[in-house]
Amino acid sequence: MTADFIPFVPDDADDLVAFLTGEAWPFHTGVPQEAAVRSRIAAGHYDDDDERTFWIVTGGERAGLVRLQDFSDDTPLFDLRIRAAHRGKGLGTEAVRWLVRHLFESRPEIRRIEGTTRHDNLAMRAVFLRAGFAKEAHYREGWPGLDGKVYDSVGYGILRSDWESGVVTPPDWNS
Ligand SMILES: CC(C)(COP(=O)(O)OP(=O)(O)OC[C@H]1O[C@@H](n2cnc3c(N)ncnc32)[C@H](O)[C@@H]1OP(=O)(O)O)[C@@H](O)C(=O)NCCC(=O)NCCS
Repeated sequence: MTADFIPFVPDDADDLVAFLTGEAWPFHTGVPQEAAVRSRIAAGHYDDDDERTFWIVTGGERAGLVRLQDFSDDTPLFDLRIRAAHRGKGLGTEAVRWLVRHLFESRPEIRRIEGTTRHDNLAMRAVFLRAGFAKEAHYREGWPGLDGKVYDSVGYGILRSDWESGVVTPPDWNS
């Protein structure tokens, strides 16, 4: 599957509201409220010095969204959403590979990129590994769920040196 990654611009606000409120997002906060999305857009949460958002477009359709967060920080984070109808077709993996390249090429000074997910988000965990990230952290009871349960969370990271060499170096847990 081949996708294009198209920057979000303020004129896309209505489309972003429709995208985010159009379905429930597992491992996020369910279906966001329109007013909350609009207020985040107005506050620059999707497009300012610290956050950049890209549509994931395939077959002419906006199939997903990737948001680069802490963009100006030494260690950027990201948020990824693929619409339910487009999951399991390799788009999530393609998006993470794309964002890693985009960040390492556009920010020559950064050495690493991080991401965290809930322990039972098996698809996202598979995406991290397929995109060259290593598991670096396991936070017991680190993720309070909307259902009242508390879940573990897991952290992954990719080093520029691993990305360049294509070899994943796991953390040295005994050092
Ligand atoms: C998590 C998410 C981004 C993954 O994107 P995707 O396009 O579905 O993932 P891919 O098709 O690239 O699949 C990646 C791997 O996950 C595996 N996978 C997919 N769904 C899975 C599931 N429910 N359980 C276990 N593994 C799964 C695939 O088999 C694939 O592994 P493989 O290549 O070794 O077979 C997407 O499912 C999504 O948007 N989910 C809801 C929001 C979310 O959880 N975002 C991440 C928050 S941190």
